[in-house]
Amino acid sequence: MRESCRVTSSILDDLTDFVKPGISTEDINRFVHKAMAEAGASPSTLGYKGFPKSCCTSLNDVVCHGVPSPYVLLNVGDIINIDVTSYKNGFHGDSSRMYFVGGAEACTEEARRLVQITEQAMYAGISVVKPGARVGDIGAAIQEFIKNTGFPYGIVREYTGHGVGREFHEPPQVVHVGKRGHGDTLRPGMIFTVEPMINLGTHKTILSKVDGWTVRTADGKWSAQWEHTVLVTDQGAECLTRSLKA
Ligand code: MF3
Ligand code: CO
Ligand code: CO
Repeated sequence: MRESCRVTSSILDDLTDFVKPGISTEDINRFVHKAMAEAGASPSTLGYKGFPKSCCTSLNDVVCHGVPSPYVLLNVGDIINIDVTSYKNGFHGDSSRMYFVGGAEACTEEARRLVQITEQAMYAGISVVKPGARVGDIGAAIQEFIKNTGFPYGIVREYTGHGVGREFHEPPQVVHVGKRGHGDTLRPGMIFTVEPMINLGTHKTILSKVDGWTVRTADGKWSAQWEHTVLVTDQGAECLTRSLKA
């Protein structure tokens, strides 16, 4: 798991310099596919339930599962989530980050705040992970964090974190909205993702009828997501997909 997660975080690190105005999301897909091969890994998404690409690229109002395309070009001021899962030695490592197209300065204050708050929400969820805690505690922590920002953000409910290991998606389901003291109890050695999707407007989403994958916000407002694969340790939590850069 450490090795698979390291491949994923190294690719996400390298994407920072690759993401630029004018490239297509298919260019990102090709970059990820090649990097994966060079690392002796394979992309978990390719062929997963028929998903056609080696990563997910979710731009602006796309919540998750955006399908890379040569027709989707990045513009200055856009925000994009790139979700990479590497399969190596029989294990999957799953993580995603947000990127500012043309640099953070090129994006609106509103978009920058959304991206930052979503990352903080993910860490608020991870911060309560320890043996004996419950899955619902993670959702409650994220929900409380978002509430305390004072902004009317929507937390997506239809898509959740998940156990990850020999299978891409395993139990438990890791909710981003939840009740403290509810759900599965966390034990040392468990590995799962925490991957909140936060919207500027409504939490409601629409699944594309065109490709059957792309999930968009129901109101067209922008959305952000961050994801780590997390190990429950004796003390608390370790992010296996943390950046390898300082
Ligand atoms: N990596 C995504 C997740 O965080 C799953 C993508 S499945 C796909 O769980 F089929 F859409 F690629
Ligand atoms: Co995931
Ligand atoms: Co993912």
